[in-house]
Amino acid sequence: MKYDRAYFQPSVDYIKSRLGGFEPKLGLILGSGLGGLAAKIEDPIEVAYKDIPNFLLSTAPDHAGKFIFGTLAGKRMMCMSGRFHFYEGYAYEQLTAPVRVMKMMGVERLIITNAAGAVNESFRPGEVMIIKDHIKMTGASPMCGPNADDFGPRFFDMTRVYDKGMIAVAKECAKRAKIKVNEGVYFFFTGPQYETPAEVRAARILGGDAVGMSTVTEVLTASHCGIPVLGFSMLSNMAAGVLDQPLSSEEVIETAEKAGPQFAEYLMDVIRNL
Ligand code: HPA
Repeated sequence: MKYDRAYFQPSVDYIKSRLGGFEPKLGLILGSGLGGLAAKIEDPIEVAYKDIPNFLLSTAPDHAGKFIFGTLAGKRMMCMSGRFHFYEGYAYEQLTAPVRVMKMMGVERLIITNAAGAVNESFRPGEVMIIKDHIKMTGASPMCGPNADDFGPRFFDMTRVYDKGMIAVAKECAKRAKIKVNEGVYFFFTGPQYETPAEVRAARILGGDAVGMSTVTEVLTASHCGIPVLGFSMLSNMAAGVLDQPLSSEEVIETAEKAGPQFAEYLMDVIRNL
């Protein structure tokens, strides 16, 4: 299967038929705990993933499964409430769908958020990390298989996808709001199991500051088709083995939700200033 523009044209035609001419410019993929931000989108038009031809269905708990179009902090947004992860059982290539559809809808820049475990011991749960780069050492890529030349080249650059200009804006906004925002490297694991303490130590030795199970597939797809990304990790827990206690998804969701409102407010300010 070639996930090229022809493949996604029915998805795009359907979405456009629902939007009455609205043209989004900024993409936003919301991770755990940020549902409140989706509620702030003005004049929202919701398009459920399940209604979109040639698209994917979300299976993760706590993920709503829809695009929300509308205005947020003065920007025309295409927001994903609910996203797709490799651990849900999709092939990597299928995971190109969201960002390729965004590209075809006219999205020029993308903000991605996630919940992640803190590997860097100077970080604390509830803090935010701006993603300056990532490490993915496991298996394949969403760009495996026949190349969709109409999105990008076979071999593509990964040095500039985490956009320095957008990172500068994000840091400036944090400084002004006097919020501690960390900067670091996101280390991707496929999940769904959390990491072992030894895997977390390995991630630290290799240069990782946070571990998580999302984001990287979307970032790779964005880089392939030339969309610059600003990525944030909400640090919902210290990664496995950092503290002498087991991880629970309840803890992860609880911390992400507790820190969510302040993160959402900060993110609104970043969006306004992009
Ligand atoms: N590991 C992987 N993914 C996560 C974590 C973690 O510790 N916390 C939130 N998502």
